[in-house]
Amino acid sequence: MKAAEVKENEGQRLQALLETALLDTEPEVSFDELVELASEICQTPIALVSLVDAERQWFKARKGLTAPETERSISFCGHAIHEQKIFIVEDAQADERFYDNPLVVGDPKLRFYAGAVLKTPDNFAIGTLCVIDHQPRSLSPAQERALEILAHQVTQLIELRKSNLKLREHMQTLVAQTQIISRQQQELIVSAELAALGKMAAGIAHEINNPLAVIQGRAFQLRRSLQSGTLEPAHMIKGFEYIESMCLRIGKIIRGLRAFARDAAQDPQQDELLQRIIEETIDLCGERFRASHIELRVAGDLHLTLSCRRTQISQVLLNLLNNAHDAIEGLEQKWVEIEVRSLPHFVQIRVTDSGSGIPEPVVRHMMEPFFTTKDVGRGTGLGLSIAKGIVESHDGQFRYDGSGPHTCFVVELPFQGPATLSEEPSHPAGNLDTE
Ligand SMILES: Nc1ncnc2c1ncn2[C@@H]1O[C@H](COP(=O)(O)OP(=O)(O)OP(=O)(O)O)[C@@H](O)[C@H]1O
Ligand SMILES: [Mg+2]
Repeated sequence: MKAAEVKENEGQRLQALLETALLDTEPEVSFDELVELASEICQTPIALVSLVDAERQWFKARKGLTAPETERSISFCGHAIHEQKIFIVEDAQADERFYDNPLVVGDPKLRFYAGAVLKTPDNFAIGTLCVIDHQPRSLSPAQERALEILAHQVTQLIELRKSNLKLREHMQTLVAQTQIISRQQQELIVSAELAALGKMAAGIAHEINNPLAVIQGRAFQLRRSLQSGTLEPAHMIKGFEYIESMCLRIGKIIRGLRAFARDAAQDPQQDELLQRIIEETIDLCGERFRASHIELRVAGDLHLTLSCRRTQISQVLLNLLNNAHDAIEGLEQKWVEIEVRSLPHFVQIRVTDSGSGIPEPVVRHMMEPFFTTKDVGRGTGLGLSIAKGIVESHDGQFRYDGSGPHTCFVVELPFQGPATLSEEPSHPAGNLDTE
C-alpha cells in the first residue's frame, strides 16, 4: 500500500481547514443534500464530503457509510487532494497503491473511488467530494463534470458558512457593544437625574432659606424686646402671626417637594384647577425669581379645570420657569409671564420670558435629551425633553413659539369643559406675590 504524501504547505493547508470551522460539527442538511445528489448522479452507494485533517479524514456529510472518520494514512482522499483534476481509481484491487489497503481488503470493501478536490479561495485543498462503490466501474464524462460542479458547490457552501459565522460573531459583538452602550446610557441618565435632583435641591434650599431667615429675625426681635421689657402684647401677637405664616409657607414648599420626590408617571389623571398647579409651581421657585429681581406675572383664565397628573404638569412649568430664569437673569428687562388661554378643545399655557428668542441652532436640538448650552454641572439638558414627554403623555403638545419678539414655550393640554371644582384659589390672577 502506498500512503499519500504530505506536501510542504501542509501547515498552511491545515490552518485553512481549521478556519472553515467545520471539523467535528453537527451534520447539516445543505451538505447532506449535496452528497445525496452526488451519489444519485454517479449512481454509487457511497458519497462523502471528506475533510483531510492532520491524522484523519473526517466526514462532514456521508451517505452509505456509518464511520464518522478514518485514518488519513489509509485514505484515498489523502491522494485526491494533491490532484488538479478529479482523482479516479476504477478498480482498487487492480491498483498497486490500494490493492492491500484496509478499506479495500476489509470494510467498506471499496473498489471504485472518484474524488473531486475541495479548494479554499486561497487554493488550499482541504478535502474532497467523493463517490465510492463496492464494484469496479467508471464515470461518464457528464458524471465527472457533475461531480466537479458539485464539489465547487460544496466549497461555495463552506465559504458561505464561514461568512455567516463571521457575521454572527460581528452581530454578537454588536449586541454586546449595544448592551454596554445602553448600560452606559442608563448610568448617564442616573447621574443626570442626580444632577437634576441636586439642582432642584439647591433651588428648594433657597426657597426655604428666606422664610427661615425671616423667622430667625422675628424671634430675635421678640427675645430682645422681652429682655428689655419693651414687648407689648400687640407687637408680640403680630410677631408670632408672622412666624406662623412663614412656617405655613415652609410647610407648603416641603409638601410640593414631597410630591416631586415620587415618580408620578403611573398616577391616574384627576381633575385639577389650573390655578392650584401654577401656585404650587411658583411656591417652588418664587424666592429664586425674587432674589434675581425677576418679575413673575400670571395672566388669563386660571379657573379652568384640567384632567391631568398635577405634579407632572407642575414639573413641566417648573422646568420652563427655571429655563426662563437662567436665560434672562443677566438681562436689563427681567420678566416672565405665564398666560392661560382657553381654546375650543384644549387649554394653552404660554410661558414667555423677556429674552428675545432662542437662536435657530439651539432650537433645532434643545428638545433632545442631554442637549444643553449651560456650563457643566449647571444643566443636565433633560428639562425640555422630559417636559415634552410629560405633555405628550397627556395627549397634549409641547412646542417652542419663535414667532413673537420674546422667548415663548407653549403647552397645550386637552380640555373637557369649564371649571367645576369649588376649591377657592388662594392667589388672585395677576401679579403673584409668593410671600
Ligand atoms: N427660555 C429659554 N431661553 C433661552 N434658551 C432656552 C430657554 N429654554 C431652554 N433654552 C435652551 O435650551 C437648552 C435645553 O434646555 P433644557 O431645559 O432641556 O436643559 P437645561 O436647562 O440646559 O438643563 P436642565 O433643564 O437639566 O437644567 C438650554 O440649555 C438652553 O440653551
Ligand atoms: Mg432646563
